[in-house]
Parts: sequence; structure tokens; C-alpha cells
Amino acid sequence: MNIVDIIIKKRDGNRLSNEEISYFVKGVTDGSLPDYQIAAFLMAAFLKKMDAEETACLTMEMAQSGGMFDFSQVEGFKADKHSTGGVADTTTLILAPLVASVGVPVIKMSGRGLGFSGGTIDKLESIPGFRVNVNEEEAIAFAEESNIVLMSQTDDLTPADKKLYALRDVTGTVDSIPLIAASIMSKKIAAGADGIVLDVKCGSGAFMQELESAETLASIMVEMGRHVGRKVTAVISGMDQPLGMNIGNSLEVIEAIEVLKGNVGGDLLEVSLTLGAYMILMAGRVNSLEQGKYLLQHHIKNGMGLDKFRELLVQQGGNPVIIDDYSLLPLAPCKVTVFAQKEGYLNHMNTALIGRASLETGAGRAYKEQPLDFGAGIVMKKRLGDTVKEGDPLAEIFAASDEKCENAAKYLQQAITIGIQRQPLPPLILKTI
Ligand code: URA
Repeated sequence: MNIVDIIIKKRDGNRLSNEEISYFVKGVTDGSLPDYQIAAFLMAAFLKKMDAEETACLTMEMAQSGGMFDFSQVEGFKADKHSTGGVADTTTLILAPLVASVGVPVIKMSGRGLGFSGGTIDKLESIPGFRVNVNEEEAIAFAEESNIVLMSQTDDLTPADKKLYALRDVTGTVDSIPLIAASIMSKKIAAGADGIVLDVKCGSGAFMQELESAETLASIMVEMGRHVGRKVTAVISGMDQPLGMNIGNSLEVIEAIEVLKGNVGGDLLEVSLTLGAYMILMAGRVNSLEQGKYLLQHHIKNGMGLDKFRELLVQQGGNPVIIDDYSLLPLAPCKVTVFAQKEGYLNHMNTALIGRASLETGAGRAYKEQPLDFGAGIVMKKRLGDTVKEGDPLAEIFAASDEKCENAAKYLQQAITIGIQRQPLPPLILKTI
């Protein structure tokens, strides 16, 4: 077999056989294929697409490119979730302790932020002392003790995805349905959970901007997961504005804690409850989505979700005092407020541009190795549909320098549209598959 023939075959729009896909993934994993041929393959797959069978084969080859986790010795149904990536999307920090607090183990491997989308691992690392590097043995011990582990992907998990994702990121081949589906599902299958809830983001701050493409992505992932014996539910949720009000690592930790304390509601709470409820529904802990949401809400009210979050911090070396004293979390020293330049209704947000603004503050990374400013970010002051008067604050920006704040402010001004007629609000939960 020859990689050039495989690239040409895909370039010309033909179906690849399982053997050809396997040959490609093996070459990626063992380092025998050079980056330029991998990148050429990715562009051919991006442009000519892959059908369901090719995507399933790519997924399984990637899943098996490293170790597969086995958490069978942890008692009970292990539930996992994954978001396709958004802005102010802090649901994991809220739902993982809530779900664990009702007795359903959550052993979740998360990623870092890239481009406009944030990553749970970066958020956790903004907590002084918190350790995200946990090995399989430790994860089992933690899960047996507390029902919750939030950890970064181990080096051994889906090495093919690590290589492919890094190359996709720099070759304009990220937003491809088969490549996203294979990337996400290979990791989820290798991570060993019994059930997976997928949060497929749709809107101006998501890879999928249209409902139709979000549905296609969701259906492919659900089908693949079920095919290998996992319970899978996909929720398509709106990303036409930042999900929460805080964007940036320590700022998002604070908002998640406020939700767990019961002080903050809104879209972030609603999506967290919905995803969490599906996790406990598939675990058989409740009989309906509504019952699930009610139970999780109850665990906010009685403080059990927050207690579980505190337990997680202690278990993984984080300072639990941050829960009561946010001044122990980093906060960037410079602050600039963005004001409305006219009155009207907040009708549209270009959420990807808001994510870009957060990147300018230092809260996100434009390339993989870029160090982060954990205390930088943006606090949004308005949501879609809100009435605004001229001079009203729209957002507060935190960064290490005034220059960074000003750069972020330019993106924010561009991202927000104020109109004279209020537009209908986009739906938050668009569909469940
Ligand atoms: N998240 C992933 O893990 N992979 C992708 O390709 C896109 C989002």
C-alpha cells in the first residue's frame, strides 16, 4: 500500500477501504508518515468528505491507536460528556460534581482550549494547586472514593488524534464533520465510559453554524457510539451568545461555583442541568429528563453539588478555600469597560469574535503551546434581547495590560449588534438525538 495512492483516491472523491484507513492511521501513530502527507490526506478528506462507514473505521482505528481505559472495576454506570466547543461553556465544572453527588460516577478526560473555544483543563489549572495529570490507577482509586475525576488526556490515549488535531488546527481542516466526529468519538470510546452525553454546539460561536450540519454531526457520533455498545445521547444547544457571563479561566471557575451555590441561573444552568439529567437518566438513576433536572437542582439547593466540587478540589490538590474566597484565584490587573454606543436592543452577537476578544486578553491560545493568563478574560454584562441605553456597560475586560484590554475591546465592539427592533431569541436547546 502507498500513501500517495490513498491521498489521490480520496482527492478524486473515492471511498477508502478499511485497510487504507488503517494504513493511514498506523502511519500517523508510528510517525512513519511525514506531516505534509498527513496534511494532504486531511485536506482531501475535508474537501471530498468521508461516508459513515469510512468515518466509523477512522474512529475505531484512532480509538485503538493507544491504550483503551478499563474502568470496569469502578462500580456503577460511568457517565461521560463532551462538548464540541464553545465560549463561556463551563458546564463540566457544574454538572460533573452534580452528577457525581447523586451517585453516578464521572471519570472525565478533558482537553485544553484552542482558538475561540475554552477548555476544562485550563480552567481547572487556574485553581491554585489543582493537578490535572492523573493516571489510570489513580483515576480508579479517586472514582471509587469520590465518584468524580476530572483529568487531562493521558499521553497514551488516542495518540493519532493528538497528531491529527494539531495538524488540522494549522491546515484549515478543523470544521469537517467526519474529522470532528472521529476525533471526539475515538477519545470517548477509548476513555471507557458506559454512557456519553454529547453537547453539539450550534451557532455563531461553534464549528457547526447551521442546525442541519449540527444534526448530521450529532447523528454520526450517536450512531458510532451505539454501534460499539455505549449509550449515547446528543443535545444540540445554541451558541449564538456566550453560554455563561464569564469568559476566561478563573472567571469561569467563579461562575461555575456561583451556579453550584445557587446564586446564578440562566442559560449556563439550564444547559448544565439538561446534559447532567441525560447522564443520570442513561445511568438509570431517574426515569425522565424532568426528574433528572429536578434532582440535580435539588442537589444545588441542598449544597451536595458544591460539597462534591470541594471534595474534587481536595482530592486533586486544589485549594478548596477558593470556594469562599475568590481573591485566591488569579485576576488580571488591568480593566477596561466596553460601553454601548447607541440605544436599542442587543440583537446579535458574533460569538466567535467574542471568543477572539478573549484570546486577545490572554485567556485563550492561538497556537497549541501558547501560555495562558489564567486571570484574564471578559465579564459580559448583557445578553441577547436585552434593552440597552447609550453608555450602558456591555462587557468588562481583564488583561495584563491596557493594550491587551483595548485590543479585546475592538473585537467586542464589532461582535455586538444593537438594533432598534427586538429580534426573537434563538432557542437554547435545539434538538436531542
Ligand atoms: N473537539 C474535539 O475533541 N475534536 C474536534 O475535532 C473538535 C472538537
